[in-house]
Order: sequence, then C-alpha cells, then structure tokens
Amino acid sequence: MGHSKKRKEDARFIQGKGNYVDDVKLPGMLHMDIVRSPYAYAKIKNIDASKALEIPGVIAVVTGKDLEKYNLHWMPTLMSDTQMVLPTDTVMYQSQEVAAVIATDRYTARDGKEAVMVEYEQMTPVIDPFDSLAPDAPVLRSDKEGKTDNHIWHWEVGDKEKTDSIFDNADVTVKQQMHIPRIHVASIETCGCVAAYNKVENHLTMYMTTQAPHAIRTVIALVAGHVGLTEEKIRVISPDIGGGFGGKVPVYPGYVIAIAVSFLTGAPIKWIEDRSENLQADSFARDYHITAEMAGTKEGKILATRFKVLADHGYTDASANPSKFPTGLFSIGTGSYDYGAAYMEADAVYTNKPPGGVAYRCSFRVTEAVHAIERVTDMFAKQIGKDPAQLRMENFIKKEDFPWSSPTGWSYDSGDYHAGLQKAMDAVGYHELREEQKRLREEGKLMGIGISTFTEVVGAGPSKDFDILGVKMFDSAEIRVHPTGKAIARFGTKSQGQGHETTYAQIVAEELGIPMEHVQIEEGDTDTAPYGLGTYASRSTPTAGAAAAMAARKLRDKAKKIAAYLMEVSEEDLEWEPGKFFVKGAPEKSKTIQELVFAAYTNHPEGMEAGFEATHYYDPPNLTFPSGAYICIVDIDPETCDIKVRRFVAIDDCGHIINPMIVQGQVHGGLTQGIAPAMYEELIYDKSGNILNGTFMDYLVPTAVESPNWETGHTITPSPHHPIGAKGVGESPTVGAPPAIVNAIVDAVAHLGIKHLEIPVTPFKLYKELKAVGHFK
Ligand code: CDP
Repeated sequence: MGHSKKRKEDARFIQGKGNYVDDVKLPGMLHMDIVRSPYAYAKIKNIDASKALEIPGVIAVVTGKDLEKYNLHWMPTLMSDTQMVLPTDTVMYQSQEVAAVIATDRYTARDGKEAVMVEYEQMTPVIDPFDSLAPDAPVLRSDKEGKTDNHIWHWEVGDKEKTDSIFDNADVTVKQQMHIPRIHVASIETCGCVAAYNKVENHLTMYMTTQAPHAIRTVIALVAGHVGLTEEKIRVISPDIGGGFGGKVPVYPGYVIAIAVSFLTGAPIKWIEDRSENLQADSFARDYHITAEMAGTKEGKILATRFKVLADHGYTDASANPSKFPTGLFSIGTGSYDYGAAYMEADAVYTNKPPGGVAYRCSFRVTEAVHAIERVTDMFAKQIGKDPAQLRMENFIKKEDFPWSSPTGWSYDSGDYHAGLQKAMDAVGYHELREEQKRLREEGKLMGIGISTFTEVVGAGPSKDFDILGVKMFDSAEIRVHPTGKAIARFGTKSQGQGHETTYAQIVAEELGIPMEHVQIEEGDTDTAPYGLGTYASRSTPTAGAAAAMAARKLRDKAKKIAAYLMEVSEEDLEWEPGKFFVKGAPEKSKTIQELVFAAYTNHPEGMEAGFEATHYYDPPNLTFPSGAYICIVDIDPETCDIKVRRFVAIDDCGHIINPMIVQGQVHGGLTQGIAPAMYEELIYDKSGNILNGTFMDYLVPTAVESPNWETGHTITPSPHHPIGAKGVGESPTVGAPPAIVNAIVDAVAHLGIKHLEIPVTPFKLYKELKAVGHFK
C-alpha cells in the first residue's frame, strides 16, 4: 500500500465512522486462531501439528517452545506478576492458550486448530481459593523460584487496634460472609488485533481493541524491546471499540502472539476472538470473598467497620490496578457514613482459573467494597430495628463536613448525601411504600424496598499515588485551532461508546466560545494523540476532561494578549464573554475568538509565538467522589419465587453535568450492568475447573427484556478541585445498583427469617433459602 493510501486508510479508523479492528484488511494478511486447553491443570506431553500443516492454507503452528527461542513465552502483568504467552510445559486453566495456528483465512485457521493434536497429563487442580491456602495444597506457581505456597500478597489499611477495641466494647455488632462472584465483562465486540510488522522500516502498527493505547505501546516495548521493537517503532491504533468496561485494558496473550508471528513472518496477522473464548478465557471481574462487620450503638450510631477479603486471582495476578493498590480502591468501603475507625485486610491467592481481576465498570474493586458496606448497613439497621433510610440519614457525613477524611485515608472532595437520599425517597414515596409493605405482608405477599447510598472514588489519579508499571496516572489534551477558527483536539483517553466525541467537544467549545460543531475530537492513535493512560474506571472526565478545560484556558489567555494588542488596551481592561473579548465599559469595542485566532497566524504581537495550539497534561490534585442514592422496590411471587423489580429510582451526583443526555445513557447502561450480578450473572466452575456456563446459552447477560424502567435523576455537588466541577459517572450505577436490589429482595423476605442472600439472587436460590427457613412445608 502506498504511503498516502495507507495514511488515508489509517485515518478511516480514527474518525469515529464505525470502523472496528475486524474491518482492517491489509494486503498479505494472515489469520490466527488459538488452540486452547480442555483441562484446568495439566502437563503438555506433546503437540503434534502435522495434520494441521497438511491442510492447504495452514502456514504455521506456533507453540510456547517456538516463542521461548526469542524469550517471548512469558510476559509481565500490570501487577508485576508473570503470565504465559504460550505455555512450554504446563497449562494452568481451562481455555488457556496452548498453540496458535496461522492460515490464509480465518476458516482455514479454525480447521487447523481442530487438527492440532495435544497430549496432556491431567493434574488435580486447585479451584477453591480457601483450599488454595491449605498447607497441603500443591504449589501452583512452581515456576517461581522459592515459592512454597499459593499466597500472592497481603494488604491492609486502617487502625486495627482502635477498630478491634470498638468492636470488643460495642452494644451491637453484625457480621456477614459474602461472595462477590466472578463475572464476565460482556462487551458487544470481543478482543482482537491486526499486528502489522514492516520488516523494511522495522516498524509495528498494531490495530487493537484497547482502552489504553499509549500504555499498551509502552508494555509492548517492554516485552519486545529486546528484539528491536522499541517504543518509537510502534504505533498503536485503537479504532472504534464495541464496549470495553475494563476488559480491554490488559495485554492478552493473543495480542503478543500476533505481534511475534508478524515480526517473524513480516505478514500482518489478524486475531479476533470468538464469543466463547472471550467468555471463558479473558480477564474476569470481582471474585472477592468478604467477611464484613459493622459495630455501633443500639440507638443507631455507626462506630466502626471491619472487612476481611480473600481474593481469587486465578493463576497469575493480572489485575488492572494502579501499581501501589493491589486491592484497587477497595478502601472506599467506609461508604458515606461518619465514623471514626475502620480496618480492612485482604489476601490474594492463586487458583487454576483464568487470571484477571479487571475493573469491570468499576474504579478498581469499588463495586465489591460498596456491596459489603451497603449490605452490612442494612443488616445493622435490621438488627437494631431501625428503618434503613433513617439509619443512613442519621449517619451520613454532613455536607458542611467536606472535605472529609475517611478512616482509611481518603479525602472525600464534596457531597450532599442527605439531599440525594431525600430526593430518591420523595420520588418513590418511601413512607407510603412502607405502609403498603405492612398491608401486603398481612395478605401473605412479598414486597421489599432496598436502599443503597454509595460513595464512589474515580479519576485516578494524583500521580504522587497512582501509576501503572511506573507510568504516572495523569491524562492529556492537545488543542489546535486552525486559522479559520476550526479546532482539532486530541486526547490520551479512548472512548468505547461513552461519547467523548460529544462531551470533550462541548468542554473545548464552552471554554473557547466556539461552536462545538467546529471541534473535531480524536483519540486512540499513539502517533498523533498526546500520551495518556486511557479510559477506564470513570477517569476520563476527571482527568482528560479537566485537561481539555486547562488547555483551552491557555489558549484563551493567548487570545486575551492578542486582543489587547489589536485593540491597543491593556489586558486588565478586557472582559470575556463566551466568544469574544470586549473592552470594559465599551462593549462595542470587541474582537471575536475567530478574529483573534486568525490574528495568531497573521498579525500577532512581536515576540509572541505564532499559531494557536496548546497541550495540557493534567495531574488531578485529588480523586473525585461521586455518590448516589438508589431505591429499588421488588415484588416476589411467594410460590415461584419469581422476582420482579417494580421500580428502581437512581439519583446520581456527578458534580457539574457536561451532557445530561449522555449521563442518563451512562446511568441506564450501568444499571443494567448492575442488575446483572445481582440477579443473573456468575461464572461457575466445577471441582475440576471446567467452566459450566461458558456460552451465552448458559450465562445470562441481561438485556432490555430483563431491565426494569430505570428512573433517573440527579443532585449536583460540584467537585471543588476539578476545573469545571465535574466528577466521573460511568461506573456509579454498576457499583450502586447490586446492593439496592439485594437489599430489596432481603427486605421482602426478612420477616420469614432470611438475613442475607448471596448474589446472584435467582428464583431457585431464593426458593432454597425460603425452604430452609420453613416457608415451604
Ligand atoms: O472514563 P469514562 O469516559 O468511561 O467515564 P466518565 O468520565 O464518567 O464519562 C462518561 C461520559 O459521561 C463521558 O462522555 C463524559 O464526558 C460524560 N460525563 C458528563 O457529561 N458529565 C459528568 N459530570 C461526567 C461524565
């Protein structure tokens, strides 16, 4: 392909015109499919590729031993653990990559995959994380020198002594063991890439489904730098992405194998996962076993919380967390309540399951933490016989007490929790509902009201605390305004459907006073966009959104200097109204932003740099702390245990709202991804490590059919440290919805003797629990 044609082709992928990785077609492109292990733990005795290689069109079969020759068979994970690209001798989970088949088209590659014969010697896997800690458990990571057990790390935060002493002396304590199950990040598009290595130029172009193109380029350079693929020789292009939700942050073996094969053959290699591979082998989310406790007075003052976590990481710690936060931001589990002491600890273990622990629409383990605090708050209310809304109102941090220092070390920036819950209660008619509930109970009907009043923590991060593999977590915006006043703005983040093209354009347009239609937004090409850490964990608005405002303000400062020069007044004499500078007291004397931009290229003051462009790398002084008050009402069939969500009201507070329609869309989608783990989704493994629901026939991802009519609203408490007062919002609903739903279901059956229900709460699970307490004779 000629250079200019190639540029045009590349440009196609960064203009938001519905182009996906699978649309990339390059001359001489070969296709890759992957042979996967049927066993969770086995020795590879032999790989016989002869039959596959007899198939016309099959070019090569690549194994771990082939990659070992180039030292490309292992790679680092984002948490500084190690992960196999392809195994040389042992497979560690069902569906792990075993070999790659390269062929002229994807159908032949699939035939080749079926023809590869692998001889395994099965071993007894460790599936249960509690078993993994047993003294006689086999040491799974025997590849690590000196490793004598399956323990990965221990983490703790808070004041243990103070917390223990409060618990020892408290009137009331509640304690609940709960599992936040392993779930799947079910984005519409699976993962995939086209790795195109050009031997003549020693240059790799990597089209891939990544949420973090710059960080991935750095990781590729770290993994493959020793064979000559250094960072300036790599271009990552992340075109339109059909959903990410955290699952497209990690570097999967498929990407690395495609690069290695392209590097060795010089041919572009396309790899697109199928739906089952995506479900069975890609990074999982959650899988935290939590013991949550709360202590307080019998009058209802919360005094302390204590959480203990066992984290199942699968065979390697490939979580997508900031480096210094092995449990992500789990310590936000102190919630929205004003109390003085908390202690949290976590231990992580290896098992024979796929690795991951991604921040699935969640700011790194916040979903798990919020579930624990909101469940245990309800249990505490039940224990002392107080209404759960009343208990929350009495214990909320007051709006005048912000910034508020949490007992686990956060400084919450702002919030008005009382206003949020009041608005949600008014919307549902809370007190009337409680009266209705009493009546329905007398008639033998089951109706429950569940509340979740959560505090979120998003926008990593202040770079003094947050990094990924040592790279500080700032984010960036670069704005160029052309002489005619039309702008192009590029960012280090990467939208996967969140609408950055609209909201970033709004920020730039508002700050500069130009129409938003005149602002073209680009993300996802490392050759053109400024370096940034990418889009996940609702960090785009708090970081890159802020960078957009800051870069635009630099340009406005420049425009002011030019205006002063052109109108022959001092800068102090000028005033700004969106779109123009005018002279104070003489509004007829003004210059529009378009005139000022044109002058920056044609008639700028002597000594001033020509042009009208600015870049800003924004390092937030703090995270932002969005919050929400959610109320769910359920009706349960007392015979069949069918659970119907009658109403769900979500009041979110994400500070200043840039685009209400986009925020509403984010909340709707997020709520559906919140009902998912509460009522439907869980990846289930048997004792041998076989996944029992490895297709969408068995793993129910809720759609509009399962979703109730989400009723949304908001309160606005601007973030005091963000340039436009905005906080992130994308993940709030996914984080806040599950405990509201489960609290409602438990509330509906509490009078029958049920104290807690594990998620997902299916009708069958509920039936069994109700039977156990004697509801069904
Ligand atoms: O990082 P990610 O884009 O997933 O999450 P976000 O920062 O919460 O933003 C999601 C979408 O909502 C973006 O298009 C934001 O610009 C928009 N948003 C908004 O309009 N107002 C806010 N206060 C927060 C986000």
